Amino acid sequence: MPSVRIGVLTGGGDCPGLNAAIRAIVRRGIDVHNQEIVGFLDGWRGPIEGVYEDISVESTRGILPRGGTILRSSRTNPFKRDDGPEAIRATFEALGVDGLIAIGGEDTLGAAARLHGDHGLPVMGVPKTIDNDLGGTDMTFGFDTAIQIATEAIDRLHTTAESHNRVMIVEVMGRHAGWIALHSGLAGGADVILIPERPFDIEDVCRLIQRRHSRGRFFSIVVVAEGAVPQEGTMEVMDGAEDEFGHARLGGIGQRLEREIEERTGFESRATVLGHIQRGGTPTAFDRVLATRLGLAAADAANEGRWGMMPALRGSRIELVPLTEAVAELRTVPVEDYEAAQTFFG
Ligand code: F6P
Repeated sequence: MPSVRIGVLTGGGDCPGLNAAIRAIVRRGIDVHNQEIVGFLDGWRGPIEGVYEDISVESTRGILPRGGTILRSSRTNPFKRDDGPEAIRATFEALGVDGLIAIGGEDTLGAAARLHGDHGLPVMGVPKTIDNDLGGTDMTFGFDTAIQIATEAIDRLHTTAESHNRVMIVEVMGRHAGWIALHSGLAGGADVILIPERPFDIEDVCRLIQRRHSRGRFFSIVVVAEGAVPQEGTMEVMDGAEDEFGHARLGGIGQRLEREIEERTGFESRATVLGHIQRGGTPTAFDRVLATRLGLAAADAANEGRWGMMPALRGSRIELVPLTEAVAELRTVPVEDYEAAQTFFG
């Protein structure tokens, strides 16, 4: 007789490592804690509408190296649905679900924290996102794979930049945090890196490129985070449509930089937007291991009824922290990290 029934969902943008985390929860939950695992589908839509499938050790075999999520995902916000929290409570009661592990980023875990804190629902979280912008944890899984992909892309763009005497602009994801831009830019030897935490002046960007070219180089690589913004009044900005969590769809800064840099410096420029390629494909070994460790810790915490908590990477250890800590504020790039990267600009 199983002791408890645990639900699992994946919400927000998919990222490499989600399947590794699901597999770890299932394996530990079923084999060690005698739990039954209910897989809710399509993020928060699953528990709101009662869309689920039972998952087992057998049905999760072979998923460790697979990108994406076998539970699928969505950006559904339970607080934007009529009686979202009550619908979730009703689904738990109907299915005999004792608690839920929500694997997600800022939005999914923000909803989880509110469902637990304001509505008393037995929910806990597991942190994931390629953006690496969650508080409470030193790193999220998905990030390592994203920077690996972005770095490889930068390496490839170097060859065209070099062959054609061009300025290549690479737009990477990361929403309002510059982690992907900073780390892939550093690893790929970018000549300028632009991040949301540090609004840029297009004149300075062009000056750095011109300085580099005056020192005998004839091409440049600029890595720009999708959320990077010009200093007020220095360049035109665009607004994107918003999702259910009120986040604007970002993107487009690469193209605008391409135009501005070419016009201002006279150097031929080309922009590449990496987009969802950064979220796709097989996770790196690091992300597989981190996701697995977090999944195991989540299954253990669910077994102990530690709702409202989240396993997090602290140094090299996995520790349980309150969900509220994870979503209290965005973890952004510290000034000193950016200043270190500036050593290589221009
Ligand atoms: O949060 C992950 C992320 O990939 C961000 O870097 C990006 O801004 C956003 O999701 C894109 O979302 P969507 O896949 O819904 O367009």
